Amino acid sequence: MHIGVDYYPEHWGKERWEIDAQMMKKAGFNVVRLAEFAWAKMEPSEGKYELDWLDEAIKILSGYGIKVILGTPTGSRPPWLARKYPETTAVDITGHRISYGGRKDNCPTSKTYRRLSSRITEVLAEHYAGEKAVIGWQTDNEFACPVCYCGDCEAAWHNHLKSKYRTLNELNRRWGTVFWGHIYSDWEEIPLPRKGQDNPSLSLEHRRFHSLQVVSFQREQVEILRRITPDRFITHNFMGFSPWVDYYDLAGDLDFVSWDCYYNYSSWSERLNNYSLQAAGHDLMRSLKKRNFWIMETSAGPVGNRMFSRNLRPGELRRMGYQTVAHGADGLLWFRWRTSLYGFEQYWHGLLGHDGVPGRRYREASLTSDELQKLSGEIEGSRVKSEVAIFYSYDDRWAFEIQPNFEKFDYVSHLLCYYKALQKEGVNVDFTHLNSSLDGYRLLILPAPYIVREEAVQKLKEFVNKGGILLLTFRSGVKNEDNIPTEKTLPGLFRDLAGVRVEEYEALEGSWKVSYSVTPGVSYSVELDGKIFPCCYTADWVVPENAKVICRYREKHLKDYAAVTVNHLGAGRVYYVGTYFSIDEAYSLLLKKILKGVPLKRYFSAPYGVEVYMREKGSKHYAFILNHNEKKAEVKINNSGFYMDIISGNTVKNKITLPAGEVAVLKF
Ligand code: GLA
Ligand code: ZN
Repeated sequence: MHIGVDYYPEHWGKERWEIDAQMMKKAGFNVVRLAEFAWAKMEPSEGKYELDWLDEAIKILSGYGIKVILGTPTGSRPPWLARKYPETTAVDITGHRISYGGRKDNCPTSKTYRRLSSRITEVLAEHYAGEKAVIGWQTDNEFACPVCYCGDCEAAWHNHLKSKYRTLNELNRRWGTVFWGHIYSDWEEIPLPRKGQDNPSLSLEHRRFHSLQVVSFQREQVEILRRITPDRFITHNFMGFSPWVDYYDLAGDLDFVSWDCYYNYSSWSERLNNYSLQAAGHDLMRSLKKRNFWIMETSAGPVGNRMFSRNLRPGELRRMGYQTVAHGADGLLWFRWRTSLYGFEQYWHGLLGHDGVPGRRYREASLTSDELQKLSGEIEGSRVKSEVAIFYSYDDRWAFEIQPNFEKFDYVSHLLCYYKALQKEGVNVDFTHLNSSLDGYRLLILPAPYIVREEAVQKLKEFVNKGGILLLTFRSGVKNEDNIPTEKTLPGLFRDLAGVRVEEYEALEGSWKVSYSVTPGVSYSVELDGKIFPCCYTADWVVPENAKVICRYREKHLKDYAAVTVNHLGAGRVYYVGTYFSIDEAYSLLLKKILKGVPLKRYFSAPYGVEVYMREKGSKHYAFILNHNEKKAEVKINNSGFYMDIISGNTVKNKITLPAGEVAVLKF
């Protein structure tokens, strides 16, 4: 495994570098990421390069056996560049150029910026082509925004539209510009969306356009790096569920995905929810390329800028380290080595504090590193395999950001309701999209598959006919890829599959988390397995056609309608869930029902707050069991026989008891 830290030698005097390298070595670290914000140090004035300091830092580190990942430094521009080339600065939605002083403030389209970015990338690639300690590259840093409204972007937007729609007639027809008489007669007339009263078709296409600009910006760097240093890996530090760039696309040009996973933004009490969000993040990142990933940055202490968050509790850094590996990480770097004395991130804590003295967090990272290195011989080459997948679609996500449909709807929160229920079932979960193969999956969950194409539905039909289980929720099949509602009765192209029709739909009043039972103010509910669960946000008025009703709404005008149905089709089944539940247990009960009798690989029964995740290599299985609770927990082993905990060396049978916050890796 590659284990280490994000390191900024340029923030300290050279006399400190050797001390740092020694301490890293002592901690068992074998990798650092360097220089992703050091453009001004590398090129202090245009065309004048100074890399001696970086050479020296790399030399010291490699003297201690520490390898290097170099960032292309384009995530933050030198002041001279911003001043000399104002056109490289992004323009905000109001038409003003952003003022200098932060980072990631460049226009992703600007030809000038791309030229300068290519040049520094080329200089670095050539300079380090022969340096063995440099094992790979990270492109830029956390691609996302800004969405730029400059003239270059506007021109590129028009070109994008021309090449996609070919003729204005076609664009006018597909976008329905006849509405409010916006029929375009010249490409130049087409505006950038201003979040006012924009046409939803235009807004969605613009989200795709922004994403493509970022992907092509990265591609220019990747091409240079591949040409000059073909033997080094190229990755990028993604941001989990960040919405700005189509990550499937961005990952396409890379060797593997890395991501920046911070988990202690919020208060202590929310830890249990947080571990699910991080787990889902790992699964999404692994799923982008269906291969193991790296953690390029993760919490090393209190995080924050103007304020700091809670600290990591004893054992937390270690347990969360194991969590990353459980979900498929092969590399783990803590952000950052030492807390910065300077700049905006003074309170984003590293393993070492401002004082640079190794303490509790350093010791825990070093213990974690030791343990993981011991395991690495065993688990190397092992992968996560999943029989369950959740659809995650950027088109759907963007379309819902443009039109949330009903108050408080958030695509990711909705998906997490199902993710958490699956997590409680102790199964591995992939994320997927419709251009990817569905082989090997038994259950597919499509949370609000809003934008749908005919081919996708065909593919899903085959999946179900062959015995697959499909779950669709409200707002399924509402729109086509131009963000135009279907003229078919809902769920549109999914109607045959689901065996239902949605006669009408509506938004429900009511807040997000409501109390357990039906209370005054909560107007609608369903009964599942003898328990009453409130519904919130929205209700489809579902009429079964071929499907069987699992539950109906219990109140008022909704009483005649189904809320959840199942349709048996071919060898498989299709569930339709027409509403949102405000209580997690509803999702758990539903999934238990769905998974009953489905022969998924589930070797453990874990209580609340205990996570079980599995890596496999040939016939060998490694079950990572993580007790996120603050009290001890017992996990039942569903098979007989002896299991070896490869961390402690202990053998267990029938059950394993884990103290608060403890982890085990059972091999079988
Ligand atoms: C991100 C960035 C880092 C740093 C950390 C902490 O993940 O990639 O450069 O800014 O956040 O703020
Ligand atoms: Zn621009």
